[in-house]
Amino acid sequence: MDKIVIHGGNSLSGEVEVSGAKNAALPLLFATLLAPGKHRLCNVPALRDIETAAKLLGIVGADVQRDGDCFEITADDIRSDEAPYDLVRTMRASVLVLGPLLARVGHARVSLPGGCAIGARPINLHLKGLEALGATIDLDHGYVEARAEKLRGAHIAFDMPTVGGTENLMIAACLAEGTTVLDNAAREPEVIDLANALIGMGAKITGAGTDSIVIEGVDSLQPMDYRVMADRIEAGTYMVAAAMTRGDVLVKGVEASALETFLSKLREAGAVIEEKSDGIRVIGPETIRSVNIKTQPHPGFPTDMQAQFMALMALGDGTSVISETVFENRFMHVCELQRLGADIVIDGHVATVRGVNGLCGAPVMATDLRASASLVIAGLASENTTEVSRIYHLDRGYEKLEEKLQRLGAAIERQPA
Ligand code: UD1
Repeated sequence: MDKIVIHGGNSLSGEVEVSGAKNAALPLLFATLLAPGKHRLCNVPALRDIETAAKLLGIVGADVQRDGDCFEITADDIRSDEAPYDLVRTMRASVLVLGPLLARVGHARVSLPGGCAIGARPINLHLKGLEALGATIDLDHGYVEARAEKLRGAHIAFDMPTVGGTENLMIAACLAEGTTVLDNAAREPEVIDLANALIGMGAKITGAGTDSIVIEGVDSLQPMDYRVMADRIEAGTYMVAAAMTRGDVLVKGVEASALETFLSKLREAGAVIEEKSDGIRVIGPETIRSVNIKTQPHPGFPTDMQAQFMALMALGDGTSVISETVFENRFMHVCELQRLGADIVIDGHVATVRGVNGLCGAPVMATDLRASASLVIAGLASENTTEVSRIYHLDRGYEKLEEKLQRLGAAIERQPA
C-alpha cells in the first residue's frame, strides 16, 4: 500500500486552488435520482468517495458520464433500490440514497453503515424523520427497508442537528405531498449548497442555513445544472499547514463566511488572515499561541478541522484545551501525534495539548480522513522524515494533496510501499 513521505521543515508559500467540496458533492450526486433527464454537476472533486457514489448511482440504474470535473447523470429508470453493504461500509454517506429513492420510487433498501473509526454514528434520526414523512421502516439482515406509497409533509424536530439527516430529509421532502418543516436542522454551508441546487431543479425550499427549513412538496422536478461549492475543510487544512510551517499562502476559491469560527481561532493562534477578492491569505506567526477550541455544529468550530488544529496546537506556546462534542471517538490522531513528539493527554472528550518546541519525524499511521490530514501537516512542520501509511483515507477526501503541497514548496511524495 502506498505511503506518503514528508521531509519536514519547509515553509509553505504561494497559491493553492481549493477543489469542490466532497461533502457538498455527495448529497448533490444522490439528489440527481430525484428527477429523470440529464443532470450536469460541475466542480466535482476527483476522490475515492466520489467514485463510490458514482458506483452506487450506477447500481441503482443511473448512467454516469464524466467530462473533466463535470458529471452528467441520467437516471431515467431506477433499476434497483438497493445500496449494498460493500459500498455503504466504505462510505457512510451512501445512506443519502435513502431519501431520493424513497421519494422517486417509493422504496429503498440500504445497508446499515455500522460503526466507523470516529464513533458509532447511527442513522436513527434519518429513519425517524422518514417515518414522520409516512415511510414504513423495517430492519432486516443488516439492511434498512423503507417503503412509502407517497411521502407526506410533516413537522420534524431533530433531537440534534445532523448534516446527513437534514440533507436526506430535505431531498425526500421535495417530492412529498404538502409542507415539511425541519427544525433544529443542520446549518452547514453544504446544506445551503444542496438547497440551492434543489431550488434550481424546481423545489420550494426556504430557510436553508437557518435551523428551520421549510419545504413545500412539488409533483416533479427538472434535472440540475449546478456547480459544487468550494471545499471549506480542504481550504482550512491548507491554512493550518501554512500557519504551522510559518508560511505565507493564498488559499484560492473559498469564502471566509464558510469558515468564520475557524478563522477567528486561527487569528487567535497568531496567524495573519487577509481576505482577498479571490481567496484567503494566511501568514504563519513566529510564535504560535495556544488557544482552546470546542467543536460544535455549524456555525461552531467544525469537527472536521479539529485534528488539523490539534497538530498546530502541538507547537503552541502554552496549553490548549480541545473539546470534541460532535463525535465521541475522534481523537485517533493523538497517539500518532505523540509519536512525533506532541504532548497531549486525553480525558474523555477533552484533549489537553501542551505545546512543545519542535516535533520530530517518525513513521505514523492514518486512521481516518481528517486524522490523516493532521499527520501530514504535523509532518510538514517536523524535523527529519515522516512517513504516513494507510493513506487511502486521504484519497477519500483530498484531491491531489501531494501535488498541491509540492507546489507550495513542501518536500512530500507518494511512494509505493
Ligand atoms: C457530516 C460530514 C462529516 C462531518 C459531520 C459533522 C458528510 C458526508 N459528512 O457527517 O464530514 O464530520 O457531518 O459535521 O457530509 N447522529 C445521530 N443519529 C443520526 C445522525 C447523526 O445520533 O441519525 C449523531 C452522530 O453520531 C454525530 C452527530 O449526530 O454525533 C452529528 O452527525 P452528522 O451531522 O449526522 O454527521 P454526518 O452527516 O454523518
